[in-house]
Amino acid sequence: MRIGVLTGGGDCPGLNAVIRAVVRKGIEVYGHEIIGFRDGWRGPMEGLVQPLGLADVDHILPLGGTILRTSRTNPYRNGGAEQVKRTLVEHGVDALIAIGGEDTLGVASRLSDDGIVVVGVPKTIDNDLSATDYTFGFDTAVHIATEAIDRLRTTAESHHRAAVVEVMGRNAGWIALHSGMAGGANVILMPEQPFAVDRVCKWVVRCLEREDAAIVVVAEGAVPEGGAELLTTAEVDAFGHKRLGGVGIWLADEIARRTGAESRAVVLGHIQRGGTPTAYDRVLATRFGIHAVDAVHEGEGGVMVALRGTDIVRVKLAEATAAVKTVPPQRHAEAEVFFG
Ligand code: F6P
Repeated sequence: MRIGVLTGGGDCPGLNAVIRAVVRKGIEVYGHEIIGFRDGWRGPMEGLVQPLGLADVDHILPLGGTILRTSRTNPYRNGGAEQVKRTLVEHGVDALIAIGGEDTLGVASRLSDDGIVVVGVPKTIDNDLSATDYTFGFDTAVHIATEAIDRLRTTAESHHRAAVVEVMGRNAGWIALHSGMAGGANVILMPEQPFAVDRVCKWVVRCLEREDAAIVVVAEGAVPEGGAELLTTAEVDAFGHKRLGGVGIWLADEIARRTGAESRAVVLGHIQRGGTPTAYDRVLATRFGIHAVDAVHEGEGGVMVALRGTDIVRVKLAEATAAVKTVPPQRHAEAEVFFG
């Protein structure tokens, strides 16, 4: 059997661990041949292939990014899906393992409906795929953001300042919630609940009176009541997503203007996606890779591997991409106990 592998969408720590697991189990246990497609869906669209042998995946487990590279290419624009199918035939590819988030897996789901054997592996630092308890990359992003909060607290305390930390999270506030709780943030703002700036200011003032610092963690997709998302550019990507960013700087200015407190903003941005994965993400990514190649070997396409509790299960790709997993209100309520 010849199996193609690709990584699509935004990169995240742990992608290489999946590739390594697919190659190791696919070749050593099943005797399959594995080839990589480069740059996400652009690879199968344009025939960009990369051989993947055992030696190619030595020592990549702790590496961030993806050795296959990635892109936000959408083959369902401009006839690309037909090109993908032609490339798979040309290269004798029997099945595809697509590692990605909602966009990449949405394409995988449509290709599967068109008769291609595709198995999905969920990745995103945002942790917003509904069919899996966790995606790899999330734990690493939370660790990075938590460390940043810890560091910001000591400098903010020294200067009696408010520090606003903008983290990623387009539709879901999982990174904000977990890093904010782990870092003891005084306010956590998420896309799920529009925030009242006056209320944020009251919390900040109370903290500064008591603790010498106020740490506000805000997800990039959070919106003020009656306002709109802040964007870095008017452009949208191939899947129609806006490029978010700027709410942290805007909020720090508002806090300074309304309270008189000295405020600073830090945008963590892509730092959250870079570098080596945590042990948790390496293990989860490795298990996903092993189970994805098992599914392909058994001829079961149209599924995504998912974490349920501590088990890896298979769910239909269509189900996996149907809805975004947002933070439930009760999780926000737990965090709010520590606000102000
Ligand atoms: O989807 C993951 C994510 O990191 C989002 O949190 C963020 O909005 C987006 O990707 C950024 O994408 P890009 O790498 O294209 O700037």
